[in-house]
Amino acid sequence: MAYSRRKFISFLGQASVGAMVLPPFLAACGNSNTPKKKASPEQLEALKNFVIKGVIPSDKDDLLLADGLEYQLLLEWKDAINEEDYFGFNNDFVCYIPLDADTPNEGWLWVNHEYVNPFFVSGYDGNGPKTKEQVDQEMYNVGGSVVRIRKENGKWKPLKNHADNRRFTSQTPIALNWDHPVAGATEVRGTNSNCSGGITPWNTFLSCEENYQDCFGERVYDANNQASLEASYYGWEQQYNYPTEHYGWVVEVDPKTGTAQKHVALGRFAHECCTLYELEDKRIVAYSGDDKADEHLYKFIGSKPGSLKEGTLYVADTVNGVWLSMDWASQPKLKARFKDQTEVLVRAREAAKLLGATPLNRPEDIEIDPITGHVIVSLTNNKSKGDYHGSLLKVVEKDGAFDALTFTASTYMAGGEENGFSCPDNLAFDFAGNLWMTSDISGSAMNKEDKPYMAFKNNGLFVIPRVGAMAGKVIQVASAPRDAELTGPWFAPDGKTLFLSVQHPGEQTKDLSAPTSTWPHNPDKMPKPAVVAITGPLIEKMHLLGD
Ligand code: FEO
Ligand code: CA
Ligand code: CA
Ligand code: CA
Repeated sequence: MAYSRRKFISFLGQASVGAMVLPPFLAACGNSNTPKKKASPEQLEALKNFVIKGVIPSDKDDLLLADGLEYQLLLEWKDAINEEDYFGFNNDFVCYIPLDADTPNEGWLWVNHEYVNPFFVSGYDGNGPKTKEQVDQEMYNVGGSVVRIRKENGKWKPLKNHADNRRFTSQTPIALNWDHPVAGATEVRGTNSNCSGGITPWNTFLSCEENYQDCFGERVYDANNQASLEASYYGWEQQYNYPTEHYGWVVEVDPKTGTAQKHVALGRFAHECCTLYELEDKRIVAYSGDDKADEHLYKFIGSKPGSLKEGTLYVADTVNGVWLSMDWASQPKLKARFKDQTEVLVRAREAAKLLGATPLNRPEDIEIDPITGHVIVSLTNNKSKGDYHGSLLKVVEKDGAFDALTFTASTYMAGGEENGFSCPDNLAFDFAGNLWMTSDISGSAMNKEDKPYMAFKNNGLFVIPRVGAMAGKVIQVASAPRDAELTGPWFAPDGKTLFLSVQHPGEQTKDLSAPTSTWPHNPDKMPKPAVVAITGPLIEKMHLLGD
């Protein structure tokens, strides 16, 4: 099907001039901002006539931005954040929480450190077992960072050595928010594979453990329920006997106290993100996708105000539009296979399949559209099924109720050569309902003649305007350095800054004397993952903030 701007807008739902009502329900919806005000007809008219000059696809080793945007480096790998700790590797999700509503320009930045490239981090060359020191290096460089930042004279800067700055690593003790032990523990060691995340209505961060099996392996069960452990990619289990069941959760981090907890009730799988919605009675609905080919979309519905423990986990049957309950006590199929609710949550993937959940093409980020209230999920690709460029899945809950148990689902093939975009990953809506998306073409397939991604060149950041002359057009506004992926886009509360991660530049490097990227072009000429702050009139205009 040929890409069509009109169809894209009708899929999303149009933001009509003068009729944009920003719904009050957006107390906290993952990466979306809480709209502060309704746009005036004049502002929307100005946006209608605004023309964006995008960047063309590029294979240049640089962070290229469209006219009207500029960036500053905020934090890069190994930057000291206090006297003991430094900023970790491969930054992904970025989230900012201001100190309070009256102090929007100072607050806490949370950054996920998803995984390491041993080549750069521990010096492991792929031969033989890793030493304990190498494993320790790798385990230190994952997890996340809390860093206090402040905007002064229009520039953001980290407050180095601030007492709130801290690292969460693969060794940090973290409590389980559950009444029963998981693999014998109520407190576990560390967090890893922290990909995307979310925010809570009570101003804490959510960090999602995605490809946990790479760190301590995965326990698999045969037809007779006999367990065996598949080895991990990193081999950390050879030095530390940490059960893999302690990973694959949604982790909540409170930047004020420096404490963290893992939410068992939200299930264990390769969580890409976790997007919350607060109901009128303060119960929480949490959406999360399992980013693995043919895995599923989940939704937790709380039964008590503000609880991410008391409630029920559901998994999506998108064919019939039903949220399937994963409650052990009321599901005979689950009772036959698992001994209790804890086991169902730990082995959520197996449980989901027993219930008939729909396999999806790798669900990545999830956002609630501020214009329509629809739930938008990026499905990045599923090469084994011939889906190379990905799509967007739209979930419309029955009667617009986020705690509904039925819904309608539809997909739009957002990726493809016609629109210059492939492999949607992170999503963010701005105040005006424009959709911002990043692409994640894997480094091994990017810029390769024999792969279907040649035309797209390096990964990028894109925006789809919702109104006006460019409505529905996918416009590239940033091009990443070589081998890199742009991740974790997050708008500051005033909408004037977009925080963005530049993850894994130079990932395909095979020889440190000839790295495939040298971004951010430091004197040592080595590639470094870094977080940037993007500002400029283009962002302000898109947010209806400009003139
Ligand atoms: Fe870490 Fe699904 O991206
Ligand atoms: Ca997002
Ligand atoms: Ca991702
Ligand atoms: Ca991805």
